[in-house]
Amino acid sequence: MTPRPIVIDTDPGQDDALAILLALASPELAVLGITAVAGNVPLPLSESNARRICELAGARDAKVFAGCPRPMVRALTTAEEVHGQTGLDGHDFPEPTMALQPDHAVDWMVETLMAAGEREITLCALGPLTNLAMAMVMEPRIRSRIREIVMMGGGFSDGGNVTPAAEFNIHVDPHAAQVVFTSGCKLTLIPLDVTHQALTTPARLERFRAIGTPVGRACHGMLSFYRRHDMSKYGTDGGPLHDPCVIAYLLAPEIFDGKHVAVEIEISSEKTMGTTLADWWGVTGAPPNCTVMNAIDDAAFYDLLIERIARL
Ligand code: RIB
Ligand code: CA
Repeated sequence: MTPRPIVIDTDPGQDDALAILLALASPELAVLGITAVAGNVPLPLSESNARRICELAGARDAKVFAGCPRPMVRALTTAEEVHGQTGLDGHDFPEPTMALQPDHAVDWMVETLMAAGEREITLCALGPLTNLAMAMVMEPRIRSRIREIVMMGGGFSDGGNVTPAAEFNIHVDPHAAQVVFTSGCKLTLIPLDVTHQALTTPARLERFRAIGTPVGRACHGMLSFYRRHDMSKYGTDGGPLHDPCVIAYLLAPEIFDGKHVAVEIEISSEKTMGTTLADWWGVTGAPPNCTVMNAIDDAAFYDLLIERIARL
């Protein structure tokens, strides 16, 4: 079986960390590179956190690139209140020693995609879409080299998690999201409506600890910290686990369900900035541009995630 070539664009973030670990533990995927973007934490932390996570996984040969330090138009807003000052609070990571790649992430993304075949590479977007959008603006021809963009972002019946209308990844850089959602690329969206079904309950948290490996203990620590903010906010018995759903979709698409609809990004009003507006019933006549997932078999998701994390 030829591994599926992927690029992971990320703003680690504990949930990003588990997504990266899941990808690195899965032989079905070939991680060509990890491109860091400012989001949960500023870029110097998101890139060094990406390297910390690769070293935790024993993947010191992974290629990590630093990308854009701020959104395309708006000022950067971060989320230390959720992820802690390090972005990976809950586990004490040593300073990374593996090298950061010298190329800018956007330059590397363009170069890698232009050297690829038609529809060859899958982009996994776990943070604000600044890097992806800047690459598309810089070199529009990369769009034909993209097999699919699978991203965590947006919210529909669950509303937003930053404003009543907008989810963090889209809200941080709504203009980048508009570039990506109008790119014509095959787009699969995993919104809050799905990730809020994938709760890290105490029993699931214990399963990470019971793996008994350094990686299992690190995941237990990170998730123990990370879940607290959302548990108090939503009053649930666990925190939603967002970004690993993107990688799980590549590994087991059958545990998800969704609908192909037209989605547009709202960028005109401060109150609704970053809203993902889905035409569920085709009333606008706008052509569908995105498959929006709205269901997940959360038990199967955690079984997959924990089984793969245990391999590291
Ligand atoms: O809204 C959740 C998303 O924003 C996740 O990707 C989380 O890591 C943050 O980037
Ligand atoms: Ca993220």
